[in-house]
Amino acid sequence: MEANQKIIFSGAQPTGSLTIGNYIGAVKNWKALEEEYQCLYSIVDLHSLTIRHNPEEFRKTCLSFLVQYLACGLNPERNILFFQSQVPQHTELAWILNCYSYIGELNRMTQFKEKSERHKDNINTGLFTYPVLQAADILLYQTDVVPVGEDQKQHLELSRDIAIRFNNIYGETFTVPEHHIPKMGAKIMSLQEPEKKMSKSDENPYATIYLMDAEDLILTKLKKAVTDAENRVAYSDNQPGIKNLITIYATISGIEPLEIQEKYDGKGYGAFKKDLAELLIETIRPFKTRYAEYMANMDYVTQIYKSGAERATAMAEKTMKKVKENLGLINLK
Ligand code: TYM
Repeated sequence: MEANQKIIFSGAQPTGSLTIGNYIGAVKNWKALEEEYQCLYSIVDLHSLTIRHNPEEFRKTCLSFLVQYLACGLNPERNILFFQSQVPQHTELAWILNCYSYIGELNRMTQFKEKSERHKDNINTGLFTYPVLQAADILLYQTDVVPVGEDQKQHLELSRDIAIRFNNIYGETFTVPEHHIPKMGAKIMSLQEPEKKMSKSDENPYATIYLMDAEDLILTKLKKAVTDAENRVAYSDNQPGIKNLITIYATISGIEPLEIQEKYDGKGYGAFKKDLAELLIETIRPFKTRYAEYMANMDYVTQIYKSGAERATAMAEKTMKKVKENLGLINLK
């Protein structure tokens, strides 16, 4: 790590597989930031324990997520790629931060409310304190910037509040992180219900495009994507389905939405959807090739996460020492 280099932390929960929402809202930007910053990108496996998993399946999903990060082009030498559970300081700091966050503020978290609504039979304590573990992930590395999609904004505000609160009591301990949310594509919507966020865990099989989807399935999903009766490719709030598709097109191609609108003037939805499918398929193809290559080379993948955990632990330990010192806990060394 170069002196004075700014630090980035971000992560995704290993459930299902990466969606084009995760890619456009987060991972694509992680890649863009890797040259300038020291980046830590984690597979936040402990966060995923708030829902029940079959252990064998879960192990596979966790490894697959690391390989998906690599297949998205994240450089394993420049970036620190690791499993959250392999750096125990995350849970250690989470306990401490639990004592500096309030039930009232956790009660206000919209994701907690939504998830409790969806999993009424399993509203566990982990679901409630989830944002505190997220704050620990971020503060543990003295993170300057956190690249995320729109839905994580509230959790980041909480991380900032906890950091400021702690610093006010004990003196400068944590860097107060900034979020980095893309101007376009921060909230990719469901293809079936365009008023709802695209999600890894949507039960409707046509709502979400996954990076791992077969090419013909991508075409089918786009053909079935909900639009409206206007049959006019317009970037307008009155046409949320087509607006979402234009956003996907624009963020992947780098072409401005209004230019896309002009290009498809008078052409109807069919032609636009077909071109968008082609664009996505072409973009995802190299991802799939790299995915297969890394999957066939598990020894290398193992080396990557081992070295990631070592590098992350060294950084985390520095912060923990400072935290304990400032709190009056007795450090061993
Ligand atoms: P997760 O796993 O739900 O999503 C990973 C990243 O993808 C973004 N994202 C989206 N962006 C645009 N459109 C969408 N439809 C969409 N869906 C998801 C998310 O905003 C996120 O950036 N709590 C986090 C994981 C986490 C974390 C952290 C993130 C744990 N600790 C510390 C940052 C820093 C989550 O569940 O993300």
